[in-house]
Amino acid sequence: MPQIINGRNIANEIQDDLRADISEWLKTNKRNPSLVAVLVGDDPASIKYVEKKMEAAKYVGIDSKIEKLPDTISESELISKINHLNEDVSVDGILVQLPVPEHISERNVCNAVNPIKDVDGFHFSNAGKLCLNMDTFVPCTVLAVIELLKRTGVETFAKNIVVCGRSKHIGLPLSILLHSDARNQLPGLEATVTMCHRNTPPEQLRVFTKLADIVISATGVVHLIKEDMVKQGACVVDIGMTRTKTQEGKVKLVGDVDFENVKNVAEYITPVPGGVGPVTVAMLMKNTFKAAKIHLS
Ligand SMILES: NC(=O)c1ccc[n+]([C@@H]2O[C@H](COP(=O)([O-])OP(=O)(O)OC[C@H]3O[C@@H](n4cnc5c(N)ncnc54)[C@H](O)[C@@H]3O)[C@@H](O)[C@H]2O)c1
Repeated sequence: MPQIINGRNIANEIQDDLRADISEWLKTNKRNPSLVAVLVGDDPASIKYVEKKMEAAKYVGIDSKIEKLPDTISESELISKINHLNEDVSVDGILVQLPVPEHISERNVCNAVNPIKDVDGFHFSNAGKLCLNMDTFVPCTVLAVIELLKRTGVETFAKNIVVCGRSKHIGLPLSILLHSDARNQLPGLEATVTMCHRNTPPEQLRVFTKLADIVISATGVVHLIKEDMVKQGACVVDIGMTRTKTQEGKVKLVGDVDFENVKNVAEYITPVPGGVGPVTVAMLMKNTFKAAKIHLS
């Protein structure tokens, strides 16, 4: 029987510890840590994700606010809003919920957030520090995967890991930390990493995943990872979250991994939903507390 990694339980443990830490910290600090989520437009998925983040913030003792903006906003207006938040001393963490509308450059927006308030870790200077294993804000999904592996006791030292997906905020930074040296400011996990992407031929992908001790997928391709692509006893981490509709018209989140079949061969596996997602939110809370400690120290 595989061990199904329960992301909700792990997220609750992290948030309970953080709530206690923030409560302790408030004995010597005048205000709670604070987080602002910038939400552009009315995308239902984005609204839901931001609401989940706000709920978690409330639970752990982080003051939080949604800055809701119309999808007609121009890039310069959005950047000017971000600049106001950068200058606001009562704000510790800023996140811009992605995606932003097509007429706005995601990169320009990520680069507009003050790097010391960049709790998503998307600013180029934080991405650069990560590449050099310097202490920085690491993207929350990357932290979530590492936390899930550590808390589940999955060994990474000298193991083979395949990462499917090379995006600048998930696949790439995750691959960097997975293969890095553990003896740095930002500790790496010492694995041998193979990165696959949309141009990796399917038969090649299968060769790589079949060799892997750990398969991590972040593509948004529903059921990309099938049972015959996974080695017996491997650990499979599914970051993918695709919103689909059931026959009754209900929204259903589906992962990159064909969970029902892959669980026959995997020793550890994360479900979707209830795997990486909740831990990602918990790590955002940790990053916000880290930002508050920097600002209020
Ligand atoms: N669980 C979480 O907390 C969390 C957080 C953010 C995003 N996500 C989900 O993670 C997934 C990836 O998000 P993203 O923002 O990195 O997406 P993206 O679109 O930026 O990147 C997708 C990546 O998948 C690769 N890819 C596409 N088809 C592939 C294939 N057939 N084989 C191998 N690689 C392939 C692409 O080359 C690309 O690098 C999405 O489903 C997203 O919803 C989950």
